[in-house]
Amino acid sequence: MRPWNLRLTDRLIQPSDFAHRRRRLLGGMRPGSIALVPGAREQRRNRDINFPFRQDSDFYYLTGFCEPDALLVLLPGRVQGEAIVFCRERDATSERRDGPVLGPDACQLALGVDDGFPISDVDEILPGLLEGRSQIYMNLGEHLFWDHRLMMYLERLAKQRSADEPEVGEILTLGHLLHEQRLIKSAKELELMALAAQISVAAQYRALDMIIPGLTEGDLEAELHYSYRLQGAKSEAYPSIVATGENACTLHYVKNESVLLAQELVLIDAGCELQYYASDVTRTYPVSGRFSSAQRDVYDIVLAANRAAIDACRPGNHVNLPHEAATVVLVEGLIELGLLQGDPAQVIAQGDHNRFCPHKTSHWLGLDVHDVGDYRLGEAWRDLMPGMVLTVEPGIYIPRDDSTADIPEPYRGLGIRIEDAVLIQKEGCQVLTAALIKDADDIEARMAARAGNTDMSRVVA
Ligand code: GLY
Ligand code: MN
Repeated sequence: MRPWNLRLTDRLIQPSDFAHRRRRLLGGMRPGSIALVPGAREQRRNRDINFPFRQDSDFYYLTGFCEPDALLVLLPGRVQGEAIVFCRERDATSERRDGPVLGPDACQLALGVDDGFPISDVDEILPGLLEGRSQIYMNLGEHLFWDHRLMMYLERLAKQRSADEPEVGEILTLGHLLHEQRLIKSAKELELMALAAQISVAAQYRALDMIIPGLTEGDLEAELHYSYRLQGAKSEAYPSIVATGENACTLHYVKNESVLLAQELVLIDAGCELQYYASDVTRTYPVSGRFSSAQRDVYDIVLAANRAAIDACRPGNHVNLPHEAATVVLVEGLIELGLLQGDPAQVIAQGDHNRFCPHKTSHWLGLDVHDVGDYRLGEAWRDLMPGMVLTVEPGIYIPRDDSTADIPEPYRGLGIRIEDAVLIQKEGCQVLTAALIKDADDIEARMAARAGNTDMSRVVA
């Protein structure tokens, strides 16, 4: 069932890989500085129930440690040890309820850090580590609990400081260093991302193969998740978008409870998370198995834009070039259909197309679905480089509302997006989601071929 030969409990990325990442980050930090990288905390869902725990991506990237209430501290050049983890202590009562906890000593060994301390001791130990450090790297605004604690420690240190001692260090964002590191994926990261894409593609095929009028969006969503779990991915990378008809005009539609109607298209934007790495792929299918002429017109424009953007995914091209290439194709197509008027360059300059094409074409993909990393260096768009992974996801959305009263009826109520995940290579790129068909003829042929095989017992209307 699983397309890969790792067991569910096997981790492709090993403690030595996480240690290597920490060393790289330490090597980029200023001498005499300190970095604080908080882990995530439990989030209450309702009453005494928490949301499923998901570790913070920065913290995970540097430790691989998946328990709540942890903090990584990095101190370049500190002779007693450069990497320290604070974590929960073992406790028989809570472990009986919530499962085993590693505890500071085992954590130190398992992660290969220099010290492990109980998180309950952080208020006593951390101020001493901060003292005399010239810079403090931390991403403020992401972990309010730790922002407040840091301010408290700094206030305490400032009060204790005598006039001849250095002032407490300046605070720098950690993102510049760490997120540049995360932006270029290692061979193992790429292996996981390729597997995550493969699992998501297989799940989309399962959903595609059951599309029939009368099912609900939720039926397709359930099939996706069932398929992820069967293939060894524990969860989705973001809430799945299964949007039929005009629902697809809501870009992040997640209600997923409408009934699929024969005359509609259904958009599926869904990706699994595999060992913390995200996939992200979107296709749009005709519920009846056949595109109407108007649906096909718009679909083919979006597909051509998707292909033009992928063609622009090459090292040396700047990161906005795929978007620019897609936009030209979208605008020319919409003008040809009579849905926009004027000269393409002028339409783009004026932003007239934004009424139908309201979002950008690409985002980075990695541990986060909208992954970290700057898109610009200074004022200029940065160049694409081997090892970067980005999405390509042009779309056209024509709601049926007052804003589209001027649009011919067959084009109204349409939302079409076609998204692939793309790895930049030394020469050109590799489309990680290429195995999922997207040509309209191929989709119709597949849907026709499975006619009679679809499970009619699932039809509810
Ligand atoms: N696939 C969801 C998004 O990119 O926002
Ligand atoms: Mn996306």
